[in-house]
Amino acid sequence: MKDVKNRGSIRGRRLAGGAIAVAASCLLAVAFLAGQKASAQAQPMAEEVYSDVQVLKGIPVDEFNDTMGMFASALLLDCVGCHSPAITHDPAAFAIPTPRIQRARQMVVMMNGINRTYFGGEQRVTCFTCHNGDYFPGQAPSLRLQYSELVDDPHPLRFFAAVGAPTAEEVFGRYTEALGGADRLAAITSITGTGTYVGFDTAHAVVPMEFYAARPNKRTIVAHGALSDLIWAYDGTNGWKYQPDTPVPLLSLTGTSLTGIGLDAMASFPTQFQDAFSEWQVGYGDIGDDQVEILRGGNPGEHPVELYIDDAGMLRRFLRWTDTGAGPVPVRMDFSDYREVSGVQMPFEVVLTWTNGQSTLQFDQLEANVAIDDAIFGRPQPDRP
Ligand code: HEC
Ligand code: HEC
Repeated sequence: MKDVKNRGSIRGRRLAGGAIAVAASCLLAVAFLAGQKASAQAQPMAEEVYSDVQVLKGIPVDEFNDTMGMFASALLLDCVGCHSPAITHDPAAFAIPTPRIQRARQMVVMMNGINRTYFGGEQRVTCFTCHNGDYFPGQAPSLRLQYSELVDDPHPLRFFAAVGAPTAEEVFGRYTEALGGADRLAAITSITGTGTYVGFDTAHAVVPMEFYAARPNKRTIVAHGALSDLIWAYDGTNGWKYQPDTPVPLLSLTGTSLTGIGLDAMASFPTQFQDAFSEWQVGYGDIGDDQVEILRGGNPGEHPVELYIDDAGMLRRFLRWTDTGAGPVPVRMDFSDYREVSGVQMPFEVVLTWTNGQSTLQFDQLEANVAIDDAIFGRPQPDRP
């Protein structure tokens, strides 16, 4: 009997590309949602910004948007899979109550009821638990799933370390050597770079990008979109996302969006992860045809992080989790095109993938230890609104 649990995620992965692409274009439509409802408050709740929020009340806008990504991902529907097709030309149409929207509202109430009644309020049963990438959940088990080839894709939140795997210290040691050695790594205190950014938030246009990072975990990315700048900033404590064509142009990040951007920032100086998490486990997984070692770090009461290290000892993937109104969703960064900068290997291509979309950062150049004005990491002060 084979492990059936891994299968669903593989199937999801195959289909996701298309669904996500359309989901992304829907988000663009939201982007045009009238600024008229924008609140001056730094962290407005979804119901203060959108017109007909009935069941996902009391969560901040960043988490509400991630919840829509969770819905799209769990059912492999794009935004018009539930919302009226009118959203493509009229953002106010997101509030139109289609039959699927009404059904999905019932599902939120049902899911919360199940979790409250049987799982002590933990978000254990989510849309994905039942839907598993299908808007019509199955009732009967599948012989195909049971008897087909097993593929290793252990990204569920519950992870079991592989028997006979090396220790986390060994894997971190090999990774540190592959990057250039502990001494050279410790000498890097900041990284600046220029290149290009492309994502749904630039309508898939490739635009110029600037990148700034400083130890231990400050990071700012500025993408110069056709009409305005897009900015993600984290100063070590507070994080912001500036995207002017959305209902809340300057969003102060909250909850796991905030801790998450901090972890993403730390990934610029990634060997720090070893001390940032107290419990490490090591297992195996696949990225494409390559087997990788998976380092999984945990702290009590926090979501874990995963570092995927390949044969050459390089970090290929960093994975973390963000909470939504319907359970946690993975957020991942894939690293490639490593080149030497000041004696240390740095990735010149970074692909960010989450349930709402995918973006690529491509560097033309990266430099180490250039002085960076600390204000760059603070609350964004965009040049162009
Ligand atoms: C599985 C169905 C489903 C999918 C797919 C879905 N949504 Fe929703 N959406 C809902 C439901 C249900 C609500 C109402 C939530 C409530 O009442 O609390 C909603 C509400 C919204 C609202 C608020 C509308 C208003 O003014 O009240 C926006 C904006 C939104 N969705 C955007 C999106 C975007 C963007 C996507 C694609 C990434 C998306 N949704 C995908 C079910 C869905
Ligand atoms: C406990 C299992 C379970 C959970 C959890 C669950 N669903 Fe469902 N859902 C179902 C089943 C079963 C159906 C099919 C009902 C039917 O046969 O018509 C369904 C149907 C739907 C449909 C209607 C699809 C269609 O057009 O036929 C939508 C939309 C939906 N679910 C959204 C969600 C969302 C969003 C979540 C998370 C908030 C969720 N569901 C969580 C079991 C679940």
